[in-house]
Amino acid sequence: MNRAHRILCVDDEDFNLELLETLLTPNGYEVFTAQDGKAALALMADKNMDLVLLDINMPGMSGHEVCRAMRTDGDLKHIPVVMITSMDSREARLKGIEAGADEFLAKPIDQAELLLRIRNTLNSREFEDAFTYLIHSLARAAEANDIDTGNHIMRVGEYSALIARELGLPERFTENIRLQATLHDVGKVHVPSHILKKSGRLDETEMEEMKKHTTFGAMIIGDHPHLEFGKRIALCHHEKWDGTGYPAGLKGEQIPLEARIVAIADCYDALRNSRVYKPCYDHAGAVRVLTEGDDRLKPEHFDPKIFAIFKRIAPQFETLYEKMKDAPARPA
Ligand SMILES: [Fe+2]
Repeated sequence: MNRAHRILCVDDEDFNLELLETLLTPNGYEVFTAQDGKAALALMADKNMDLVLLDINMPGMSGHEVCRAMRTDGDLKHIPVVMITSMDSREARLKGIEAGADEFLAKPIDQAELLLRIRNTLNSREFEDAFTYLIHSLARAAEANDIDTGNHIMRVGEYSALIARELGLPERFTENIRLQATLHDVGKVHVPSHILKKSGRLDETEMEEMKKHTTFGAMIIGDHPHLEFGKRIALCHHEKWDGTGYPAGLKGEQIPLEARIVAIADCYDALRNSRVYKPCYDHAGAVRVLTEGDDRLKPEHFDPKIFAIFKRIAPQFETLYEKMKDAPARPA
């Protein structure tokens, strides 16, 4: 049986906390309480909350500050927040949206509305979780016959998110690329396994077959608007800035930004792992090949702006690689 949803109620008034607890517990929720922001953040880090009900005006950290702190914390940023505002406070709501709150509830609290808002917020979060899970499952299906397995696809997502953040792109872009970059090689499911598993270089015919994983990937992902990112990445992650890539030979900014980012993330990880480059490179070796080039990789293949960022944050790539190289194949 699934465990009850855990709701953390944060309010400096004892009375309000008791009221919320009295209302939520009989409705099947496991309720935790905190009277200030600091205690709330500590509880969240400890207890794996499913939702936070957050009062705005509290001594010490305000609700807005708590919400902002959550949104910049890798472990807490996905927890939905329902912010409790005063009825007429438009400014507090706007600030709440800016801080990353998911929903708002006006004081005095209408009990029926509270329960509905909680249920809707939890439902939409569960839907998003299921979407993420399915994307990862689809990405993994393509690894069945590939030798570059392990956590390659997840690492490519994480490196891509690092670059996106460093480029100053919106959080939505960063989250999209983190998730949908994992689909970059999904088209390999259509590439014969003797090609995928071949050790050593592919001959020309085999290479032509291999190149088709880009168009196959775009075909598998299809035209759903939520998956546009993944489709462009699957199709264009082997295009090169100087126009020498495939499948279309796109050049420069003709290549979608998300694909230009994934291209470098994918190459770095391939160098760390690949069967073609034997022995696999350590971090410094991979950076050297990318920076100086070799008989197949050239620095001109990459968007210079993204390449400069890669060089600047390369140590973070190494940290991620080390952290994720032995991690379990399926994220929790
Ligand atoms: Fe690929």
